[in-house]
Amino acid sequence: MIKISTIFAAGLLAVGLALPVAAAEQGAHIEKQHWSFAGLFGKYDQNQLQRGFQVFREVCASCHSARLLSFRNLEQPGGPEFSEAQVKALAAEYTVVDPEAPEGSRKALPSDAWPGTGQSDADLAAAFGLVPPDLSVIAKARKVNDAFPNWVFNYFTTYSEGGVDYMHALLVGYEEEVPAGTVDSQGQPYVLPDGKFFNEVFPGHAIGMPPPFSDGQVAYANADGSDVPAEMLTADQYSKDVSAFLMWVAEPHLNEHKSAGFRVLTFLLLFAALMWFVKQRLWRKVEH
Ligand code: HEC
Repeated sequence: MIKISTIFAAGLLAVGLALPVAAAEQGAHIEKQHWSFAGLFGKYDQNQLQRGFQVFREVCASCHSARLLSFRNLEQPGGPEFSEAQVKALAAEYTVVDPEAPEGSRKALPSDAWPGTGQSDADLAAAFGLVPPDLSVIAKARKVNDAFPNWVFNYFTTYSEGGVDYMHALLVGYEEEVPAGTVDSQGQPYVLPDGKFFNEVFPGHAIGMPPPFSDGQVAYANADGSDVPAEMLTADQYSKDVSAFLMWVAEPHLNEHKSAGFRVLTFLLLFAALMWFVKQRLWRKVEH
């Protein structure tokens, strides 16, 4: 008779053999980052979201819209949590179209939506060959394509940061020249189309977005005016911060969901224990 453990061992062996094959099929490797909001108890890091917003506003917002973001979201609990006064002052730096205003436009208010790129879609398409996508939900619309058996591990480790891992890898994944030995899907030497940039992780490698970062480009400042360490002023750090910020834009209630989930699990555990005691008591006198 075949023992269960033999079947189990055979299963493990099959998974082990499949591993290298699956890894080879996956294309570019996307490195998993450490995110404060990962795991069962993860929470957004408010300082990181504030830095990420600065990067979004100074670097990305001239090409990408974020239609689902409103100024007032920036002060809500669980987000960057800027103060009411900061958000008011920030909104007042922008002008929005309002047919009811005397000149047809006015200063933005905290209740207004994020104003968009300031360029028409036609101009953007002419410049880049396509309109840059809206970034409101992009952190959840992209993922890491982990083939079997990796997705099984991801399931058990509650891995759900594929979108932000991809975005971080994308933003720092540019090469100035096509790396030697790169081939296209037919196995021919890779030729980069005109007007495109080579990106290690973008599907097909030819992306219309120019490399967005250079080191030192965004001047982070501490609230008290003290110097920010130099290692914080790198493309890698900007990329992490803006990815975390866009994760928050896509999923603003993550902190609440995680704490609600934890409370439900605690309740279920206590309830199960209680039921076990009830069962013991009820069946105590019954012979078996
Ligand atoms: C100069 C204009 C420009 C800037 C600045 C810019 N982007 Fe883009 N972005 C584009 C264009 C164009 C595309 C479409 C690329 C394509 O599909 O080939 C794009 C695509 C993307 C995508 C989608 C990639 C995919 O998998 O489809 C993401 C994510 C993204 N940008 C994030 C950002 C972030 C974050 C910033 C700021 C750090 C930024 N972009 C700055 C022009 C820009």
